[in-house]
Amino acid sequence: MKAGIIQFAPELGNLESNYQKTEELLKQAIDADLIVLPELANSGYNFSSKSQALALSEPIDDSNYVKLLLKMAVANNQFIVAGLNERSGEKLYNTAVLVGPSGYIGKYRKTHLFWNEFDFFEKGDTGFPVFEINNTKIGILICFDWIFPEAWRILALRGAEIICHPSNLVLPYAQQAVPVQCMMNRVYGLTANRYGTEAGVTFSGRSFVSDPKGKMLYTAPADQDAVFITDIDLSLSNDKMITPRNHALLDRRPELYHPLTDTDI
Ligand code: ACM
Repeated sequence: MKAGIIQFAPELGNLESNYQKTEELLKQAIDADLIVLPELANSGYNFSSKSQALALSEPIDDSNYVKLLLKMAVANNQFIVAGLNERSGEKLYNTAVLVGPSGYIGKYRKTHLFWNEFDFFEKGDTGFPVFEINNTKIGILICFDWIFPEAWRILALRGAEIICHPSNLVLPYAQQAVPVQCMMNRVYGLTANRYGTEAGVTFSGRSFVSDPKGKMLYTAPADQDAVFITDIDLSLSNDKMITPRNHALLDRRPELYHPLTDTDI
């Protein structure tokens, strides 16, 4: 299969421009079976208030952004993962939706909120679902989720072969650390980051694709739109042998890892 990432700079508060940019870049990604867009791709990131965040949010079942993704998934015959400022009643979630040629498939709500996101969003409540697309198992993490090894491990233990990672990265570590998580769990990582500056917050661009041995297959520029698509060799994700006698998952010793005591936490 072919999979990849789209990098762009969503404009805070300009839904129409973000829809147009998304459509323009998805038209350049027609060769991908699976393509990932950044976190909060519909709305931008650095809201000045909860009311601004609310005004820029969309319920999944009545979202012009999701409708656009559905139209492009049919036109390109592909699966798309994209970040969405999701409204659910009065609550907001930092969500990623998964759509495909046959329609809407599911969502993941960001588990680990970053910095001022606590002022706008609820903590995600979906857990870590694994979705099957054309016989391939994919998981989703959103941006700062990357720093929690538990999230990667759960998805790997559930059989995810590719981790889709819509991001608005601010800290400088993920480009180093995510390939290591991919190596330790033997999964592909598709980190679709954004670039640009919003009200003093600068995003790092340099979206990347890591293979299951931690090799960087691509790094985007720091400050330009980018579309990258590559062949995915799922046999690499499914080969969990670190040495002929060491299995990345089965050699774990969970009986020694739990229960945690109060003093461990
Ligand atoms: C982040 O989680 N958007 C840094």
